[in-house]
Amino acid sequence: MIKIDVSGCAPFAAQDLCEKYIGKALGAFDVLMSGSGAGNDFLGWKQLPSETPESLIKDIEGVCASWKKLGVDLVIAIGIGGSYLGAKCVIEALSHNFAREMGAGDAPSVVFAGNNLSEDYLAELMDLAGKRNVACIVISKSGTTTEPAVAFRVFKQYIEERYGKQEASVRIVAITDAVRGALKTLSTQEGYRTFVVPDDVGGRFSVLTPVGLLPIAAAGFDIRALLEGAAEEQKALQQKSASNPAVVYAAVRNLLHGENGRSIEIMVNYNPKLSFVAEWWKQLYGESEGKDGKGIFPASVNNTADLHSMGQFIQEGSRLMFETVINVEKASRSVVIGEDPQNLDQLNFLAGKHVEHCNRMAMLGTRIAHIDGGVPQISVSIEKIDERNLGALLYFFEFACGVSAYTLGVNPFNQPGVEAYKKNMFALLEKPGYEQQTEQIRKRL
Ligand code: PA5
Repeated sequence: MIKIDVSGCAPFAAQDLCEKYIGKALGAFDVLMSGSGAGNDFLGWKQLPSETPESLIKDIEGVCASWKKLGVDLVIAIGIGGSYLGAKCVIEALSHNFAREMGAGDAPSVVFAGNNLSEDYLAELMDLAGKRNVACIVISKSGTTTEPAVAFRVFKQYIEERYGKQEASVRIVAITDAVRGALKTLSTQEGYRTFVVPDDVGGRFSVLTPVGLLPIAAAGFDIRALLEGAAEEQKALQQKSASNPAVVYAAVRNLLHGENGRSIEIMVNYNPKLSFVAEWWKQLYGESEGKDGKGIFPASVNNTADLHSMGQFIQEGSRLMFETVINVEKASRSVVIGEDPQNLDQLNFLAGKHVEHCNRMAMLGTRIAHIDGGVPQISVSIEKIDERNLGALLYFFEFACGVSAYTLGVNPFNQPGVEAYKKNMFALLEKPGYEQQTEQIRKRL
């Protein structure tokens, strides 16, 4: 399960301060566990791993089986923010790095739409759809978000024209609120199969609801193992203790922010498959903590590639950041470096070594260099990249996020700032009801 090592922060934090912040984080743990804090109507995610009913998993598997019967080989998952990042990060982490180039696998490809408003993106996705047998999952908790609504209108029409209205209702599945929102109304009217985003689970905490589980299952991955890994972590993290990894993570990052001037946290990975875990984590922490003029800005790098781009800044630039490194203990595949009798590249000193050994030495060497350069290091370890470990990792970051935001003194579960751009966009698009704002905003262009 998840292990945390904060020894790389020791040079930057006195022992008494560590104790003070562990105390604060333990207080925040109590608030989270007792449900006595702000946003406490959004705590449903805490028990999801252990309380997901078998009937829900069977319904998800049923959808995948019905698509298999139709020969579906492309699933378009439409959603934005918390309605796409969780599924995307798990699918990327579990997929072959070259899945696209390797060609058709046993399960459909799952691709994403509705997370941008690029016309080129949608047009090119339609090019792909034209070559494949298509199904669609449309995901929006509110049922009113513009980006997915636009993409869904395009693909709804496409699927209805290509397969007919009746078959469209088997190829399209909606995941939304139980009763509210335009998507719910539309789904009921069109007779789509629907799954519910529980009322008490916010978007960025929804990866273990059908929002994440259906696309992940559609891509052929084991959602039972994902939930089991998360459930084990749930059990471990819900025990109050000063060594609880979520408490330690929350305490140390708040200490580095509050006492050591660190306003940026960089998530670092040494495995390209994990780059979207960082994207998911950025939304989770950015939206949960970045409010009321507070918060740590979440950023990410993919090493060793970014050691050759961002490495210089991290080593010697302004001292604003600390790093949280995702340490994967075991590679899943094996490549051993061979001996070369001519040794023209002078690499024979590596002969017989696994490439992952070099990766590990790069990670350890970077850790020491960055500590020497004044960058505190947190390490979060998983054994390997598989469904169980990913389930545990996702739950760890969710739980720690709740503890950390309460330690910081903000409501982890709202996102009032997301509305500002929407109002301006609606005014500019001349949405009915925004006439006055349209007139005002035009003067500012
Ligand atoms: O975390 C959140 O709540 C947001 O990022 C939402 O997931 C995002 O805005 C999409 O919202 P919806 O699912 O209502 O379309």
